Amino acid sequence: MSDTVRIIEMGARDGLQNEKTPVSVENRIAFVKNLLDAGLHTIEVGAFVSPKAIPQMVGSDAVLRGVNHLAGEFHVLVPNEKGYEAARASGAKVVSVFAAASEGFSHANINCSIVESIERFKPVVARAKADRVRVRGYVSCVLGCPFDGEIKPQAVADVAKKLWDLGCYEISLGDTIGVGTPMKAKEMLRAVAAEVPPARLAIHFHDTYGQALANLYAGMEEGVRVIDSAAGGLGGCPFAPGATGNVATEDVVYMLEGMGIRTGVDMQKLLAATNEVTGLIGRMPVSRVAAALNAKKRVANRA
Ligand code: HMG
Ligand code: MG
Repeated sequence: MSDTVRIIEMGARDGLQNEKTPVSVENRIAFVKNLLDAGLHTIEVGAFVSPKAIPQMVGSDAVLRGVNHLAGEFHVLVPNEKGYEAARASGAKVVSVFAAASEGFSHANINCSIVESIERFKPVVARAKADRVRVRGYVSCVLGCPFDGEIKPQAVADVAKKLWDLGCYEISLGDTIGVGTPMKAKEMLRAVAAEVPPARLAIHFHDTYGQALANLYAGMEEGVRVIDSAAGGLGGCPFAPGATGNVATEDVVYMLEGMGIRTGVDMQKLLAATNEVTGLIGRMPVSRVAAALNAKKRVANRA
C-alpha cells in the first residue's frame, strides 16, 4: 500500500463543535494556522449552521476569512441555502453538505428526512456549480445509528449515490458513533463502491469503540485513499448520543508513515497544535500517539 493518502483535517470543525468550552475565533484561526504549518493542507474550518444547533461554530465566517488567503484548501459545512449564502459571502471555495444513512439521525441532526435533505441540497449544489464552488458530501451513520441501530450497506450506498448524482466531487462516509468493525466497514464500502468510484470516497471514522484505525486500514484495503481525522482525536456530534472523537490525526499519520506512506505531516508541529488547542478546552489529547509523545517529552525534560 505504499502510495499516497489525502488527509482531511477535521479538528477545527468536528473537533470543536461538541466542546463545552467555546474556543474564540482568534484561537480557532491560530489552530488552523498551526495545522497548516504542520503540513495539513486540507482543513475543515467551520460550519454555517444554526447558531442554536451548534453555538460552538458561531464565527465560522470570521474563521474562514481569517485563513482563506493562506495556501491551503478550506472546507465548511452548509446544511441549506442559507448556510451556502453565508459561506459564499465569506469566500468559501469548498462546501460540504451532510446527509445520513438513517432517518433517525437525519431528523435529530438536520430536522428533516433523508429525501428532504437531498431536496434541500439540490439548490445548494446548483448555486455552487454556478459559482465554481466545489461540493463535498457526507453520509453519516454508515455503520450504525444511535436511534435506528444497524444500518444496511445498501442504505448507505443509496444515499451516497444520491449525493454523487447531485454533483458532489467526493463522498465522505461517517461512522458517526464509532461502532463499526473492519469486516462491516469493508462490506459497507463494497456496497458503496458499486455506486461511487472508490477513488471518490473518503472515510470519516469516529473512534468511540477504539476501532477507527482498524476500520481505516480495512477501508484502505478496499482502495479508499482519503481519510478524515482530527488533531488530538477531538470531535463528536451533539445530535449523536454516545459519540466521541474522530480518529486522531496523529494516530493516522503514525500508522501511515509506519506503512511507508508519506503524509508530509510534521508530527512534532502537529503535536504542538494539539497540545495548544486541548489546553484551551481543558482536556488531554485522546490520541494515543500524542499521549505517548507527550510522555516521552516529559521523561526527556526530567533527564
Ligand atoms: P430547522 O430548525 O429545521 O431550520 O433547522 P429552519 O429553516 O426552520 O430555521 C430555524 C432557525 O434556524 C431560523 O432562525 C433560521 O434562520 C436558522 P430563527 O428564525 O429561529 O432565529 N437557520 C440558520 N442559521 C444559520 N445558518 C443556517 C441556518 N439555517 C436555518 N444555515 C438546520 C435545520 C439544518 C438549520 C439545523 O438543524 C442545523 O443547523 N443543524 C446543524 C446540525 C449540525 O451542524 N450538526 C453537526 C454537524 S454534522 C456531523 O457532525 C457529522 C459529520 O461529522 C459526519 C459524521 O461524523 O458522520 C459531518
Ligand atoms: Mg464527524
